[in-house]
Amino acid sequence: MAFRRFRAATIAVTAAVAMSSMLVTPSAIAETRRSASEAGAPGVGDPYFLYQGNGGFDVRHYDIAFSYDPATRRMNATTTVTAVATQNLDRFDLDFRGPDISMLTVNGTTAGFQRDGQELIITPGSNLPSGRVFTVVVKYAGVPPVITDPDGSIEGWVPTDDGAFVVGEPQGAPAWFPGNDHPTNKATFTFHATVPEGTTAVGNGRLLSQTTASGWTTFVWDSTEPMATYLATVTIGKFKITESTTPSGIPIYTAVDPRLVKRSAAAVAQIPDIIDYYRQTFGPYPFSSTGAIIDYAPNVGYALETQTRPVFCDVPSNAVGTMAHELAHQWFGDSVSVRHWSDIWLNEGFATYSEWLWSEHTGGMTAQKLFEQAYAGDKRSFWQITIADPGVVDMFSDPVYDRGAMTLHALRGKVGDAAFFRILRQWVQAYRYGNATTTDFIKLSEKESGMDLTSFFDVWLYQKGKPTTW
Ligand code: ARG
Ligand code: ZN
Repeated sequence: MAFRRFRAATIAVTAAVAMSSMLVTPSAIAETRRSASEAGAPGVGDPYFLYQGNGGFDVRHYDIAFSYDPATRRMNATTTVTAVATQNLDRFDLDFRGPDISMLTVNGTTAGFQRDGQELIITPGSNLPSGRVFTVVVKYAGVPPVITDPDGSIEGWVPTDDGAFVVGEPQGAPAWFPGNDHPTNKATFTFHATVPEGTTAVGNGRLLSQTTASGWTTFVWDSTEPMATYLATVTIGKFKITESTTPSGIPIYTAVDPRLVKRSAAAVAQIPDIIDYYRQTFGPYPFSSTGAIIDYAPNVGYALETQTRPVFCDVPSNAVGTMAHELAHQWFGDSVSVRHWSDIWLNEGFATYSEWLWSEHTGGMTAQKLFEQAYAGDKRSFWQITIADPGVVDMFSDPVYDRGAMTLHALRGKVGDAAFFRILRQWVQAYRYGNATTTDFIKLSEKESGMDLTSFFDVWLYQKGKPTTW
């Protein structure tokens, strides 16, 4: 929590400037392509990020192999994207904001390509019929970029004093690999990261191997459950590594910047118990490994729920709460992901409410008390955001987190504990590894409670202003 409040405060000035650059008009290239016969669309139609994702295919697997030298900040990479065509394609796009491409093949044959903003426009040597599995191999080298978001925060490939802090929500993944960058296209991932000996590259999932030769170490990470591109990371630095298991046998791999070991110890120590409590409350842990990456990238100002292994840019003052928040996202956000970014409260409101539950469970402030405290807030601007569609600039603003959590607590009061926790468990079960919308949540809540909740959700999610009756 402390992280994003810190971030929100520091970025307020830049938000207005950033907003103007958001109003992208489709470029000439995109316009002409739209009329082409069997071209895949340049975006999936998410109103918050028009060019995010692409039409015409579904990515199944990413194999991302690279070396990175923190001294020069250069990467040398080969990414292989395996996808299935969902329409006949004579041209299609990947999202890519990374360095210069030296070679690109489709099914082993050199393909034509152009770059236009974040679109990498690919013309395969021969058309791809609908249903065809195809592979795209892209070789690139150079300095991957830091991306600035509409709210002024930074993401993508962020260099640190000993490596790189790598995060992609909501649009940073294309900084380091070409792909279909929208949460609706989940895929499995394998990473092969080669870094100078003594430096560690920490990815999502399980560490398959770690081999050193002539001063360089290659880490192979495998992420076998479906993952959205924004949740991918290979964060690089000098880390103290600890491996253990949760009470239910889930392997834990934790990487901590040596400078932060002491300050993060209490939060890191709670990982097994937090996971265990959520398993009992929400249902099975969705992934086959867990852990955390505690790095030092103070200019970032937030943590991210990178799948299986959340990444922290520092140790926030509320370290335990933030750990509880990021681990809750593994259920809410990572396994069940948004269908459109406007549904972001389904991630942030749920993770914040889970923080409240963990606080109560461990003898801290109760969820009721935390609700009352948030509800008492009378900062006018706080109550002027529409939670179900906050707008791209405010998607990570405090109301999305706190009014989102309040919405869940109010729902719990309205339908009772039994129905409320049934709703949460059904939610993670029904949409496991998939995508869902606010409407899906309302429908499920009505089904499980047997109540008409139209006006309840209208007041909490769709109306501005502080709710008074619900
Ligand atoms: N999902 C992250 C969290 O709750 C916040 C990510 C913010 N990203 C950004 N580009 N501002 O903890
Ligand atoms: Zn969050």
